[in-house]
Amino acid sequence: MPERWLLTGGTGQVGLALRRSAPAGVEIIAPDRTQLDLTDPQDVGSWLHGVSAVVNCAAYTAVDQAECEPELAMLVNAKAPGILARAAAEAGIPLVHVSTDYVFPADGTGPWREHDRAKPGNAYGESKFAGEQAVRTSGARHAIVRTAWVVSADGTNFVKTMLRLGAEREVLRVVADQRGTPTHAGDLAAALVTIAQRFTGNPDQPSGTWHCTNAGETTWHGLATRIFARAEELGLKVPEVVEPIRTAHYPTRAIRPQDSRLDCSLIARDFGIALRPWEEAVSDIVGELASEGLAA
Ligand SMILES: NC(=O)c1ccc[n+]([C@@H]2O[C@H](COP(=O)([O-])OP(=O)(O)OC[C@H]3O[C@@H](n4cnc5c(N)ncnc54)[C@H](OP(=O)(O)O)[C@@H]3O)[C@@H](O)[C@H]2O)c1
Repeated sequence: MPERWLLTGGTGQVGLALRRSAPAGVEIIAPDRTQLDLTDPQDVGSWLHGVSAVVNCAAYTAVDQAECEPELAMLVNAKAPGILARAAAEAGIPLVHVSTDYVFPADGTGPWREHDRAKPGNAYGESKFAGEQAVRTSGARHAIVRTAWVVSADGTNFVKTMLRLGAEREVLRVVADQRGTPTHAGDLAAALVTIAQRFTGNPDQPSGTWHCTNAGETTWHGLATRIFARAEELGLKVPEVVEPIRTAHYPTRAIRPQDSRLDCSLIARDFGIALRPWEEAVSDIVGELASEGLAA
């Protein structure tokens, strides 16, 4: 009889990667939003029968749109994790919950450590931080895993947007004064699996918060430059100029942190998890997209 884990957000970037990374002996149950709508997850308890862990990869992730519909962001990112976590506590099973670098302030300096004070600068970050607090106070055994700048060959993300725009335009202007670290959804998913296995295998594993990104750091401009360098090697069309600009010249509805680098030493110490350099991870994604003919 395989162990069963409940996964929410199984159609998203991280959720899809996690379904592909299911370890031997684990069956992943991944209801989609028509089966388990997180704006009203009251019947979540019925999904927990025979389940030994919950991994919450679902979220309202439209960072700019959240400024216009903060209540919806709160429902999905804060209220639902609270309900999930209380149900997990009642069932006596652990919850692995994914959170974000955007809980940190717009103007502070990283790399941020887990105990640094959160002070979100936008509605999405507020809702994600409220979700963390709901999980922490639920009574469930939990791991809150904060990550950043998630990229993959699935869904919509910066790598895919750059490749699409790069195929259409000769000049791209990309923000060069926000620092952070891209994170391959597959690398993160493998880390979430390791953590879930530790919690299911060891009832004494303490709850906590851990940071998890690929290694290194860059800016959005640095990331774009790397994407196009790899794309060019693979014979894809790239722009002639990738111009670095300041955030002030690319206004968005939501304010983003100037520096959202996360210090990932705690997850290395506690779980032996150290993700590879972001450059390698991003090169793999560009290669994957090119081989699937999806890059253009
Ligand atoms: N993307 C990033 O750059 C980033 C950065 C830092 C942290 N994170 C965190 O990482 C986690 C995974 O993010 P991701 O990039 O994989 O997100 P994603 O690709 O946007 O996927 C979000 C998932 O949540 C589901 N979802 C949204 N609203 C729902 C609802 N009302 N009911 C049920 N399911 C719902 C989506 O379902 P549908 O397919 O039906 O929409 C999808 O499966 C999230 O906790 C996010 O906050 C992401």
